[in-house]
Amino acid sequence: MPAGPFYGTFIEYWPASVAALSMPQVGTVLGDADAELIASCVELGGVCPSRFSAALTSWLHRVTQAWSQGVFLRLGGRSFVLPARPPVPVTTAGQALQVLAFPGERAARMARRCVLAGRPLWLFARHWRSITPEEEFRLVVRNRQITAASQIHHRLCFPGLAGRADAVARRIVRFGARLGPVLHLDDVIADVWVPFDDTAGVELIELNPLMSVTGRALLEGAVTGAHPRALHFRQPHGPIGIVPLPPS
Ligand SMILES: Nc1ncnc2c1ncn2[C@@H]1O[C@H](COP(=O)(O)OP(=O)(O)O)[C@@H](O)[C@H]1O
Ligand SMILES: [Mg+2]
Repeated sequence: MPAGPFYGTFIEYWPASVAALSMPQVGTVLGDADAELIASCVELGGVCPSRFSAALTSWLHRVTQAWSQGVFLRLGGRSFVLPARPPVPVTTAGQALQVLAFPGERAARMARRCVLAGRPLWLFARHWRSITPEEEFRLVVRNRQITAASQIHHRLCFPGLAGRADAVARRIVRFGARLGPVLHLDDVIADVWVPFDDTAGVELIELNPLMSVTGRALLEGAVTGAHPRALHFRQPHGPIGIVPLPPS
């Protein structure tokens, strides 16, 4: 069962019906020694890839062989992505081990948190998608309903977005009508991929807790709920642009 509003957002707690709204994926529980290596990778200044277990190495080998278009690797609760280290498709076990071995603060902190809490640390390999920053949106979900949305990369301005915003808002609402009924948490922040190709479906990227620790994108009142029921986007000049989210 899901473990509350924080751990409940981790991929290992998603019901199958929620996972079906996201990319195909496969997960494994990391052994204690592998989890400890990821948790301490920053203090170690990076990990020599050969220190990871043979079991993990062969799992990575199997997954990358099976999904030759490339995979995106992440922990259940957080990815390995850093501002200076954007994700790249992983196609071999060797590349996968390089991702895990890198001394990245974000993944290490999450791994340490799980190790200290005595929780299993899950690693997921997900089908690679070519996602551009302009196609990523953050949805505030309260009571299983979308109450607002924003571009995720809130410091950037995408000049083409204003012209697409109404269509994006409609697609987000349609996605929300599928997500709400199957969601295992009432209140959550859902990050989604809305591809430029408007015949392609919207996909769930990840869930985050609806808490002040989660970035609020352009939604000042994300935690308190004080925001219009609209899609928010940055305009080159003037105030933040908003287009209403149509009724679901
Ligand atoms: N399956 C995927 N294929 C390609 N890129 C991805 C995939 N999933 C996520 N990403 C990219 O990596 C970023 C970070 O991944 P995410 O799952 O949101 O974890 P976190 O926010 O913990 O770093 C996303 O914002 C997206 O740009
Ligand atoms: Mg994210």
